[in-house]
Amino acid sequence: MANLITRTACSVMDWVNARAPGLVPMYRKHMSEYYAPKNFNLWYYFGSLALLVLVNQIVTGIFLTMHYNPSAAGAFDSVEYIMRDVDWGWLIRYMHSTGASLFFIVVYLHMFRGLLYGSYRKPRELVWLLGMVIYLVLMAEAFMGYVLPWGQMSYWGAKVIISLFGAIPVVGPGLTEWIMGDYNPGDATLNRFFALHVIALPLVLLLLVVLHLGALHEVGSNNPDGVEIKKGPKGNRWSPDAPADGIPFHPYYTVKDLFGAGFFLILAAFIIFFAPTFGGWFLEHDNFTQANPLVTPEHIKPVWYFTPYYAMLRVIPSFFGIKLWGVLVMFGAIAVLFLVPWLDKAPVKSYRYRGWLSRVMLLVFVVSFLWLGKIGAGPGTDPVETIIGRVLTFLYFAFFITMPVWTKLDRARPVPERVTLHD
Ligand code: HEM
Repeated sequence: MANLITRTACSVMDWVNARAPGLVPMYRKHMSEYYAPKNFNLWYYFGSLALLVLVNQIVTGIFLTMHYNPSAAGAFDSVEYIMRDVDWGWLIRYMHSTGASLFFIVVYLHMFRGLLYGSYRKPRELVWLLGMVIYLVLMAEAFMGYVLPWGQMSYWGAKVIISLFGAIPVVGPGLTEWIMGDYNPGDATLNRFFALHVIALPLVLLLLVVLHLGALHEVGSNNPDGVEIKKGPKGNRWSPDAPADGIPFHPYYTVKDLFGAGFFLILAAFIIFFAPTFGGWFLEHDNFTQANPLVTPEHIKPVWYFTPYYAMLRVIPSFFGIKLWGVLVMFGAIAVLFLVPWLDKAPVKSYRYRGWLSRVMLLVFVVSFLWLGKIGAGPGTDPVETIIGRVLTFLYFAFFITMPVWTKLDRARPVPERVTLHD
């Protein structure tokens, strides 16, 4: 029996190979002969986990689309219908809404790993830039998705964020109206956000992820030591030409990533089954009330993954009657991340071999980002918190703007010639 299965599989493979001879070389290049550094650690789980969550969002999203109604009159009720009447609808919806927050947790950890090990440095600048474009598209995707259930926070969130464009001189008001398709969020807004959320942006995301991985596989993965294994000695037990410190991605890292996926899915299941709103952090309480243009919620705030930027927007005052500064600072905070590959002048890539100055600066950055996130999630009425928010915004930018200076001043330790394997 086993023999018959093997022979059938081989003849199917031969048939495919004769008609698509490029497939096997592609599989070798990206899987069985993609030699990744042998010292990957926990931080290297998050790329494959981001892929897993992307697939989850697409699959659960397809099923939600089957029952969702993209109209101001029907959207909220159709989501309630999914939750109460559609078989397993509650599970599909909670997998999708929890998936959105997990996506950002995983992507933030993935980006932080990049910062920690200098994975954005030459020759991986393109990998980082493509990652940043993914991050932008992901934010647009999440924002539009949050508008779809047409709850109070969907409506007012859309109004506040789209109205930001109104702060742009001359074209602002026209631009706001063009994006909304109306003077307030309504049917036109919902219809276009639905089209963008379910088809246009997911397609763009998929394409970008393919490019992101394609760019990475051209140059090879970085690793916790920041040592270029391609520049080291050659030859391992799989190939005389492969880097000595590289191991085939398949089966070694596919198995490692499967373990990570299993662990992650258990955690995700706990949240989905026992705490899907996560105390109002993943699904805000106000969004369980239908959108009402006549009643403004007490505190309008975005979901947690946007709150650091939202805090910056709120704490920056308007100068000379111009409101644009907050908007500029908020977008600038994202834009500056694109420049990291060129701001970092350190002689070593990984923080493992950087000195205390770099470590302190990284800590300042992490603390300011998290603290701003906390401020952005609050009501924004405390004047002391506003001052703290300004200081943190300053520190956030100082981390990036002064990076060329402190990365040069810092005393790096010698980097080993080959990757180290820590037990
Ligand atoms: C949908 C979102 C994303 C997916 C599915 C994704 C996927 C991946 C995968 C599978 C890898 C290889 C495995 C690994 O190194 O962990 C990777 C590497 C990388 N990604 Fe992403 N990524 C995403 C977003 C981002 C973002 C937002 C950034 C940064 C702005 C980024 C920057 C990087 C970098 C620098 C590497 C190379 C890391 C190294 O070799 O050390 N990625 N990504």
